[in-house]
Amino acid sequence: MAKYIINGGSALNGQFFVQGAKNAVLPLFAGALLTEEEDVIQNCPDLLDVDNMARILRSLGADVERHGNSVKIGGTLSSHEIPYGLAKELRSSIFLLGSVLARLKKAKVAYPGGCDIGLRPINIHLDAFRELGVKIEEYYGYIYCDATAMQGAPINFDYPSVGATENVMLLAATARGLTTISNAAREPEIEGLQDYLNLMGAKITGAGTPFITIEGVDSLHGAEYTTIPDRIVAGTYLMAGAICGGEIEVLGAKPSHLHALLSKLSKSGCKIKVNNDNIYLRSDKRIMPFDRVETQPYPGFPTDLQAPLCALASVANGNSMIIENIFETRFKHIPELIKMGAQIIVSGSVACIRGVEQLRGAEITAMDLRGGAALVLAGLNAKGTTIVNDVHHVERGYQNFEATLCSLGADIVKV
Ligand code: EPZ
Repeated sequence: MAKYIINGGSALNGQFFVQGAKNAVLPLFAGALLTEEEDVIQNCPDLLDVDNMARILRSLGADVERHGNSVKIGGTLSSHEIPYGLAKELRSSIFLLGSVLARLKKAKVAYPGGCDIGLRPINIHLDAFRELGVKIEEYYGYIYCDATAMQGAPINFDYPSVGATENVMLLAATARGLTTISNAAREPEIEGLQDYLNLMGAKITGAGTPFITIEGVDSLHGAEYTTIPDRIVAGTYLMAGAICGGEIEVLGAKPSHLHALLSKLSKSGCKIKVNNDNIYLRSDKRIMPFDRVETQPYPGFPTDLQAPLCALASVANGNSMIIENIFETRFKHIPELIKMGAQIIVSGSVACIRGVEQLRGAEITAMDLRGGAALVLAGLNAKGTTIVNDVHHVERGYQNFEATLCSLGADIVKV
């Protein structure tokens, strides 16, 4: 298993272009299945999760060809079965349920099950599909769906699930009649999916608000779409700049997608400057602590930035409290940070962090994607050498992570 070896203590200085958003591209790939015509997704990051999604599309009969950051998707679906192994590998395969059902009116998918950060049930997805007239049976770990009697309907989510919002948009875009979603998730990736589906001929409005309207159309056509920038990757690098000191500029990032983080970093003493699509951060002293940060659905503080924030809070000049409200077991990075000298107490969903001057290098292990990124940030700060094992977790979401950090002045190699 690959690992990073990091010699900490260097400041970060420089600029780089942020990658396209992983969590935007995955539902876009599912959307491309809604038509046999060729679709082109631009600014597509080169990541393990994206490759796995492409493998699933190919297993369903689609043609998927990558040319640099551009991916062409076309061809006809020859199977309605999402393969067990790939579905287990990639939870986002659940998005495909909506697309495959919309095209073939039937689908079979393995129950995706939990993952490193929580149980991650799909009840909101399935309840919504039943509201739309989809017949669903679950046995032997598989979900069997029949959408021949599907009809648009008003849907209310008990919780603003990102994936369920995207899945209903994918399914209802070509369903007979009108579908509405109230209490929809408001993430920018959902607005991106709406823009893309509307380019394909769909009639969807309201993405980015809690109320989405989908007027079913008979069919969709091919389209070309450029993926939005990855706000979580941008936020992770900004916190790398804060934890190391120095000046970095994230080019191509949308400040409007990161208000919650930028507000916290500014209050902690970082100098932040933004224009339309660049974010500049300067940190020239130890940051002030974060009194209380609670992860919330967008536009609240994103759960995907909770782990990097824990690493940053570990070296703040005082005590911080970070509360994880979205996932049940998303503190697996904390025991690893403690090995580096972090002073953190966890009780349920609350992490109380007493900042130390500097962390100490140690051998640690990444347990999940964002937790692994947090351990890299901790290593960049630490005195001495840090070895981060199992970095394949990190490479699921961060393209050229160590190369980009090196270009900013970090001393990090992958072995
Ligand atoms: C998306 O996951 C993202 N993944 C996650 O990013 C992100 O953390 C999450 O949204 C929240 O912002 C992708 O977009 C591919 P949810 P998703 O449905 O859709 C519960 C990363 O690091 N829930 O909004 O799975 C669920 O258990 C990943 O890039 C149900 O109870 O998130 C969780 O507690 C991690 N029933 C909460 O809702 C359901 O049917 C939020 O889940 C669905 C969800």
